[in-house]
Order: sequence, then C-alpha cells, then structure tokens
Amino acid sequence: MRVEATDLERDFSETFARSRELFREAKEHMPGGLTHDSRWLEPFPVFVDRAEGPYKWTVDGRRLIDYWMGHGALILGHGHPSVRRALAEQLERGTHFGASHPLEVEWARLVTEMVPGAERVRFVNSGTEATQLAMRLARAHTGRTRVAKFAGHFHGWHDEAVTGNRGPFGVTASTGASPAALAATVALPAGDADALRRALSDLDVAAVIVEPGGGGWGAVPMEREFLALVREETRRAGAVLIFDEVITGFRLARGGAQEHYGIRADLVCLGKIVAGGLPGAAVAGPAEMMAYLEYRDEEWNRRRKIAHQGTFNGNPLTAAAAVATLKQLRDGRLIRRAAELCRRLCDGLNGALARSGVTGYAYRQASMFHIALGVEPPGPADGEPPRGMDPGLLEQAAKGPRTVALRKAMLLEGVDLMRSGGFLSAAHSPADVEETVAAFERALARLKREGLA
Ligand SMILES: Cc1ncc(COP(=O)(O)O)c(C=O)c1O
Repeated sequence: MRVEATDLERDFSETFARSRELFREAKEHMPGGLTHDSRWLEPFPVFVDRAEGPYKWTVDGRRLIDYWMGHGALILGHGHPSVRRALAEQLERGTHFGASHPLEVEWARLVTEMVPGAERVRFVNSGTEATQLAMRLARAHTGRTRVAKFAGHFHGWHDEAVTGNRGPFGVTASTGASPAALAATVALPAGDADALRRALSDLDVAAVIVEPGGGGWGAVPMEREFLALVREETRRAGAVLIFDEVITGFRLARGGAQEHYGIRADLVCLGKIVAGGLPGAAVAGPAEMMAYLEYRDEEWNRRRKIAHQGTFNGNPLTAAAAVATLKQLRDGRLIRRAAELCRRLCDGLNGALARSGVTGYAYRQASMFHIALGVEPPGPADGEPPRGMDPGLLEQAAKGPRTVALRKAMLLEGVDLMRSGGFLSAAHSPADVEETVAAFERALARLKREGLA
C-alpha cells in the first residue's frame, strides 16, 4: 500500500519540518541517517531534543507521550529523580576506573537477589552482547555447537542471532553475516513441538534460546504450555535453555518471565531495565555454568576458560543508574503500576477501535502492548494475548504499512508509539492514558478518512 501524497504525509512533513531538515543533514554523515534500524520511519524519523517523565519533546517543539521509553529500558520513565541523583553523584567520583569498584558488586547483588536462579552475573554492554555470551557459555558447558532459536524471535544483531529474525517462518538473515555462524544457528517455527524435538535429537544442540514473552517483544505471543514444553525437552536433551529476558526482565514481574510463567531457565540474558536506562546488560545463571568465566589454574585458564573482555563492562555510571533503578523495582509496586496502566490503555484502545468500526485488536503483557490493525479480536476484546492465531498475520499487523501510517497519525496527535505498540512506565499517569486513547480515536478517524484503515 502506498501512503504518500495523502494529507497525512503532508501534515507530517510540515509539522515535523525541523526533523525533516535534520534528517537531510544526518544522511550526509551517517548511513541512512540513522543509528538503529528500528528508528527508521518513512519519509523521515522525528528528532528528539529532551525528555522528562512520560514525555519527550521533538526538535520541532512538539510534546509527545512516549511509548518507546528507551526501547523498553526506562520503566521508571525519563529522568527519574533517584536515577538522576545517582548519576550526578557518580559523575563527580569518576566515569571509568578501569578497575573493579563497589557499585558493580552492589548491582550484581541486586540482580542475584531479584532474578530466579541467578547465582552469578556477568555484566556486558548490550542485549546483543548478552545473547552472544550466553550462547558461548552454553557451548562451553555442553561441548556442542548448534543453537536453536525460534523464527521471528529477536536476540540482537550478532551473526549467531540473525537467523530467522524476519519471520515468522522465514530464515532471512543479515547480509554479511558469517556463513559458519549462520550454519551454527537453526530457526524453528515457534510453537512446533515436533520441530523442536527433531532438532534436539538430530542437531547437536547446545542451547535453545527464546524470547519467553513471544517473538518481537510479544507481538506474536508465546503460549505458556509451549514454553513449559521447551523447558522439559531441553532438560531431557541436556541442552541449555536460555531465556532472553532483555525485554521481559524486571517488566513481566520483578523476577521477569521466569517468575511470571513459573518456569526456570538455565541462563538468563538481561538488558535494558537491568542497566537503569544506560548502556549495559548482563548474563546470569547458576554458579556452575557461569564458572567458565572464572580464572582457575593454568590448565583451565588456557583450555577451558571463556575469553571475555569489554572496556565498558560494568562501568560506574551505568552501575549507578542500575542500582538506583533496581532498588525502586525491588518491591514490585512500580512494575505492577505500569502493568495496571497498560491494562487501562488496552481497554481504552479496544473501545476506540470498536467505536471507530476499525478492525483491530490491542493486547498486552504486563506493561507492554501491541495494536494489531486488520486483526479481529480472538474472542472478547479483553486485551489478553491472542492464542493460536496465525503468527504471519500478527507479524504483518505489527510491521505493515497501516501500522506505519498509524504511527505517523499518532505522532501528529502527540503520541510516539514504538511501531505497533509500546511500553508503559511508572511515570505515565491515567491522564496520559486517557489522552492517548483520545489521540488514537482521532488517528483512526484520519486513517479512515484517507482510506488507510
Ligand atoms: C529480546 C531482545 N534480545 C536482545 C536484544 C538486543 O539488545 P540490544 O539492542 O541492547 O543489543 C533486544 C533489543 O531490543 C531484544 O528485544
């Protein structure tokens, strides 16, 4: 579907004229004018100048209710006072010691206290690094080579993670990825027990990695029964089960997806929230598996130890923000508050869809939500994740041209959706939710008027 030359396009271009200018300049210095593929928006992305609480302001002077929330990293909202204070104090003491420091110990203690099964934790700089390290740990532990993942599940951009990223059943990988790494990864159809069993029996599988909330941060939800089956089958096959909790950690519950589903993984990848909104991530797991990172005797160090460096691992600024954030989340109250706001938001969005006569369904998991335009609610429009629905349909809804048009219409109404949905934070208020629902209804009316919905 072409969406150019509509009023939507014209209004977008005029309203965000300064962003359009900046994008023109950005393209002269950065490939595609971007620093992250997901920030691409046709014909240009908006440029943001500052942020506070649930809001951010574009360079064009427009206030947006923010549902990106730092790609899901900012569950406390932008600039939470305790995080700001911790950062300001740390800034005075130093930003990089090139040495061990007390805050990293406190950070690790909080992670091991809050995440089930996390006896030891190693800090890295991004979710991508976390999944890469977890895969290496699994190989070291099992002596096997292959990693099985599920099509449509995202685990970052390194060579062993890109197989099947664009799914749900495709195995499209990134150009330029190492053929050896691609061959070491197999993408299975999510929900297919037979394919999983076959892979585990035939393929020398070291690890199965999964987005426990479902592919694309839950756009294609994963059913608990299947997750339980993955747990059972990996245990039987002696393969390591890696939960990629980069999104779900500290969001689905204090203890992440493990706590939410009552299912234990072997290794857990944490990112985003774990680092308090600054660059940082972690791998956590039982002492026995994490031990491959330890120094021991010379023989072990030379032959068995996993090599792992990283200039910014556990850097003091990130550690300060992380400790301040995790302390706020410790009692679970703010995690539940964000989830409750998300429930209200989905109820409001589904109400707006019904009133507008536009086919679509808004669904949620804790404080994450998705709007699937063109998809009929699977039963009552109660916001529960749809079960047993064609994953292709949900993925298409999340990424299709209608959703791109909706994103722009919502930006014009003062709301920044993260593609098809977004993340609530504890800083959002019921008034923000109401404003968003009203904006959504106006955006739907515009899409209908312009023949886009
Ligand atoms: C489930 C999941 N795993 C891994 C990553 C990669 O994390 P990062 O962007 O910090 O490299 C992401 C990023 O969004 C993610 O959603």
